Amino acid sequence: MMTDHVDLLVLNASQLVTAAAGPPGPLRGEDLRRPGIVRNGAVAVAGDRIVAVGASDELRARFTAAREIDAHGCVVLPGFVDPHTHLVFGRTREDEFELRCLGRTYEEIAAAGGGIRASSRRFRTTPRGEIVAQARATRRRALVHGTTTIEVKSGYGLDTAGELTALEIAGEIDDRGDVVRTFLGAHEVPDEWRDDRAGYVRLVCEEMIPAVAERGLATFCDVFCEEHVFTQGETRTIAAAARAHGLRMKLHADELAGTGGAELAVELGAVSADHLMRISDEGIAALAGSDTIAVLLPGTSFFLGMRAFAPGRRMVDAGCAVALATDCNPGSSMTENPQTILTVACIGLGLRPIEALAAMTRNAAYAVGLGDEVGRLAPGLRADIVVSDVPDVRVLPYHHGVNHASVVVHHGVIVD
Ligand code: NIG
Ligand code: FE
Repeated sequence: MMTDHVDLLVLNASQLVTAAAGPPGPLRGEDLRRPGIVRNGAVAVAGDRIVAVGASDELRARFTAAREIDAHGCVVLPGFVDPHTHLVFGRTREDEFELRCLGRTYEEIAAAGGGIRASSRRFRTTPRGEIVAQARATRRRALVHGTTTIEVKSGYGLDTAGELTALEIAGEIDDRGDVVRTFLGAHEVPDEWRDDRAGYVRLVCEEMIPAVAERGLATFCDVFCEEHVFTQGETRTIAAAARAHGLRMKLHADELAGTGGAELAVELGAVSADHLMRISDEGIAALAGSDTIAVLLPGTSFFLGMRAFAPGRRMVDAGCAVALATDCNPGSSMTENPQTILTVACIGLGLRPIEALAAMTRNAAYAVGLGDEVGRLAPGLRADIVVSDVPDVRVLPYHHGVNHASVVVHHGVIVD
């Protein structure tokens, strides 16, 4: 039999999670727990693409390879997709963390001028080079923990120049076309506009969105639609401007108070509704009947010390397309580690380990509009692969607090 030559063969996976089974699109309901697992599996890679997935014996017979990775009976899975981060922030907020440890709430700190506004003040006074270095280091840490595709939002500039800078930096740290950018000028009303909210919304719509679109700096537009932040009406206005400029919507919805954010996201045809800790039954039904992905961020509930997690189990069972993300940001979720999120998703949302994995690979890819490109191990998709050091999928979230990614393949290239 003729053998084909490929660049890379990953062999001998105890469980090769393809996340490629089931009907097309994001996995819902019972399909989420059956994303496809090949026993003693293997993957063949040529250039930056997957060319074959199957049993190790079969692929070994079909291919010779310039390089082989022996998974030694451990789990192999698609690279993680992190569909919600605020990772261009420059400086951290451990001062607020300490206050929260002593009982102050996130909302109290924000109302007193801290929170996102504190980050914005710091962002504006931090030299650009320092912000680039922070963003690059954060991105790099995410990658070594297995995140091969990542969404990055602006939202700490809160003026036109600062928002453009944040999105430019998100572009600069994108080595291989793996950063998806979202404009989040409507993250908070900055200090200088506190007495003129309408003026700030006009600035977002009439100056920032056109500037972002004209420079091609973002794919998506997001709004923090929340009590004390942006109202439903303001969100609609911003979404209309975004649509007029070719940006697709995402929404921070029902995070701290239930305000019908999920329903609004569906009404606006948003690609995703994110957070959803306070989603209502109507919101769950609306999402289940739509193409809008429910991006859950259980690391935020954990980090804010909230009793409430999103009703993840109910949402999966109701047929919502559930994805997971870190929410990496200096206030409410200071981690870029996707594996931490798997653990918190299992415990806080009631997901099975395999469901959490599928939610942070395949479904997360759909949440950033890249479901046809990443998130699964299947021929033709980008060769983004994580070789772990655990023998069974369940051990990934179970043995927490350590990095289980022993090899990360990113666009066909082994990460040092
Ligand atoms: O997703 N909700 C809004 N934005 C972030 C928090 C950002 C911050 O505190 O700096 C979030 O939780
Ligand atoms: Fe967020």
